[in-house]
Amino acid sequence: MPPNAAKALESVSLAGQRKTAVIVGGTLGIGAAVARRLAELGCSRIFVFARNEARGKEVLAVLKALAPKGSTLEAQFVQGDLSDVNGMRAAAEALQKAAGDGSIDYLVMTQSGAPKGTLIENADGHDRGLAIQAISRFVLAYLLTTRGALAPGAVVLSVANPGRTLDGLSADDLSLRGRVPTSSKTGLFFAQSARDSSVLDAFHEELTLRYPQYRYYHLYPGLVRSREGSEYRAFPGWLRYAAWLSMKLVGATPDKYAVVPVYVLTAPPSDPAVKSRFLGEKLAPMQIGKWAADPKNRAALWEKLLNIIGEEVEASSEVSS
Ligand SMILES: NC(=O)c1ccc[n+]([C@@H]2O[C@H](COP(=O)([O-])OP(=O)(O)OC[C@H]3O[C@@H](n4cnc5c(N)ncnc54)[C@H](OP(=O)(O)O)[C@@H]3O)[C@@H](O)[C@H]2O)c1
Repeated sequence: MPPNAAKALESVSLAGQRKTAVIVGGTLGIGAAVARRLAELGCSRIFVFARNEARGKEVLAVLKALAPKGSTLEAQFVQGDLSDVNGMRAAAEALQKAAGDGSIDYLVMTQSGAPKGTLIENADGHDRGLAIQAISRFVLAYLLTTRGALAPGAVVLSVANPGRTLDGLSADDLSLRGRVPTSSKTGLFFAQSARDSSVLDAFHEELTLRYPQYRYYHLYPGLVRSREGSEYRAFPGWLRYAAWLSMKLVGATPDKYAVVPVYVLTAPPSDPAVKSRFLGEKLAPMQIGKWAADPKNRAALWEKLLNIIGEEVEASSEVSS
């Protein structure tokens, strides 16, 4: 049975360990709650990344107030926009510069780009939701890993949507242009959601296989009453009402859920609860989605993502078994 994360964290302290955390999407919702919990545990440096500077500064003041008495917390806001590849690359560079080489112990990604059931293109011509939700997580994880920004044994953790599959997804049509003419808004919404899950699962698995010196997790938060949690207002048709009701009945607060990602970040690698890299809202292990489980799909996606961000494709793209 998975451990009770809230209870387990009562006996965890990061004080004196000189841990550095980067929280992408840390001004609101789950990201801000993760930052708060890390500050309470005595994390020494926390970098909060998002677009809105005023909100960022408010979060920093709260983090400093939460740090344990007698400890010093260095908290910094790093501003940027992950909507296109230029913004994503600039974000990786700014975060590495701010934190310093080889220093990030925890990279937490909670930036939100949930599907809307429509195709809105970003500056690169890709589905904007896909860019924020999936491509930006790949770019940050890949660049900060390969450019030497991570500390030994670092944990990279994405809160998003593991375990689903979009059968027939092609790495050459990640924006699902082929489906737009025929799908209803609701149909496209479900396809985008399954596409995001497939892409996220696939590159998390590849990162795990390619860089075993670090740990890469993809977590499902369940229903959390954050800004994204209230984005059901933009959902198409009946989904809006179903989401509203579920959120009201079973939605957790961001702080209630945040203990789960913080447990994963601070658990030793030998802890059986963090063995699976795909975890549900109460730490139950999840299966990688069917599309992402296929090494051929992962190899094609890896090559495509490197291509999209203008990185050289390694000689052998297929590491996975
Ligand atoms: N809440 C749920 O019920 C739920 C359920 C399933 C999955 N999820 C996933 O979990 C993740 C976190 O959700 P949440 O509910 O905490 O979201 P949220 O409350 O909307 O917070 C999202 C964060 O991302 C930042 N952000 C959004 N667009 C950005 C951009 N273009 N560039 C940089 N930062 C950006 C926002 O700050 P700025 O606006 O200042 O940039 C904010 O700090 C999301 O990926 C979401 O899809 C959530």
